[in-house]
Amino acid sequence: MDYRRSYVKDIFSLAPGSEVDAYGWVKTRRDSKGVSFVQLSDGSCFQDLQVVLEAGAFPEETVKQLTTGTSVRFRGEVVESPAAGQAVELKATQLEIYGIADATTYPLQKKGATMEFLREISHLRVRGNTFGAVFRVRSEAAYAVHKFFHERGFRWIHTPIITASDCEGAGAMFAVSTSLEATGHGDDAQWKLKSADPTQDFFGKPAFLTVSGQLEAETMALGLTNVYTFGPTFRAENSNTARHLAEFWMIEPEMAFCSLEGDMKLAEEFLRYVIQHLLDHCGPDLEFFNQRIEPELLKTLEHVATSSFEHMTYTEAVEALAASGEKFEFPCHWGADLQAEHERWLTEVKVGRPVILTDYPKEIKAFYMRLNEDGKTVRAMDVLAPRIGEIIGGSQREERLDILEDRIEEFGLPKEAYWWYLDLRRFGSVPHAGFGLGFERLLMYVTGMKNIRDVIPYHRTPGSAEF
Ligand code: 4AD
Ligand code: MG
Repeated sequence: MDYRRSYVKDIFSLAPGSEVDAYGWVKTRRDSKGVSFVQLSDGSCFQDLQVVLEAGAFPEETVKQLTTGTSVRFRGEVVESPAAGQAVELKATQLEIYGIADATTYPLQKKGATMEFLREISHLRVRGNTFGAVFRVRSEAAYAVHKFFHERGFRWIHTPIITASDCEGAGAMFAVSTSLEATGHGDDAQWKLKSADPTQDFFGKPAFLTVSGQLEAETMALGLTNVYTFGPTFRAENSNTARHLAEFWMIEPEMAFCSLEGDMKLAEEFLRYVIQHLLDHCGPDLEFFNQRIEPELLKTLEHVATSSFEHMTYTEAVEALAASGEKFEFPCHWGADLQAEHERWLTEVKVGRPVILTDYPKEIKAFYMRLNEDGKTVRAMDVLAPRIGEIIGGSQREERLDILEDRIEEFGLPKEAYWWYLDLRRFGSVPHAGFGLGFERLLMYVTGMKNIRDVIPYHRTPGSAEF
């Protein structure tokens, strides 16, 4: 068996009369007057291939084994389909079953299963319509990300997953240690601490899973000029919401000789490019999301792909929120972080499309953001999207050594640990800027899926690390 055999998606473009093998899993089987119709899927496209098993073509016991989930190869002839909704179908002449799926125990057959239930069978859900579409779109979006940056001369760089520095200074990090030993299994499992002394640990000091590749990306940008990361990041914040993961993928471009204006321009171009790419290449999948998951999805995406984003300063946003007359659960005042409800009001009610907010109070943003002349705000920008809220967080970076040192101190961070980061400001410092896009937040936006756990194959959230 060669990997270069035909996929189901290729069969749809074969001329009637072609002989072909079709591999896949049975979605459904319907018997009618001795003829059986099998909907076959291999995940290569949204549409299933209809395979017709004519009366008497195969032993009845064999046909009965073709229940939902069974893996199979059909050989047959491509014929014009009399049924609506498909140009061709396959008239089977041979059939080989690889593995049956017992109809009494196979979990993925209930119609109308909830997202919560499907999450419990994350290892099987990809075979269904919704998750097949989600993961095809995810793959295509990742390709579009690389294509976008490659076309603009950005270099893809690989920043460490294990790090000793806390980029965001928020402290929500997972420790990486060999000082802990797991004994026992399941409910009896226990940690045994071999040594409480970090100098005795694997790295000779406390180490963590990275929350962002930004600081290392900055070092690479101050040599390669335009770079980006695309990899997993980890946050141990105990946020059990529909838009937080403990392990998520982030895309972080970083540009030397670039201000916040250039950064915002890139963010906007980037989002529009990826969305347009998906509209061009994932039509049937997006059509499905539009019909079944989020009405108006296609209209929204088409609109976003072609119109510019609204720009507003944080201060203007707070004023608009205060004047809105809305009753928010969390009152909004200058200096406070915006809550999801505020972000939704701004994007959905006030503007009706993505908004870029800039110039946040320095206290609520990370230490590395460039201080404005007013001494109160920093050159930060967040892109907020309807339904999702924050989808991108970025900034122009503080390139002035003395001010950066002050900021590190203000945040109570250990200056010694950032010696290499400060070196960038000692030797050939330049204005530079970048941002981070949460890949799963983008996927929620383009698919309309309501929970971030449903756009990543295996979600990591508080209390959940199955599979
Ligand atoms: O705003 P954040 O924390 O920014 C950074 O990490 C910067 N170092 C980025 C940079 O300037 N290079 O995170 C960036 C984005 C957010 O806007 C959000 O889309 C996503 O990452 N994100 C999460 N996605 C899923 N689950 C979480 N827990 C997330 N936290 C942030
Ligand atoms: Mg942020």
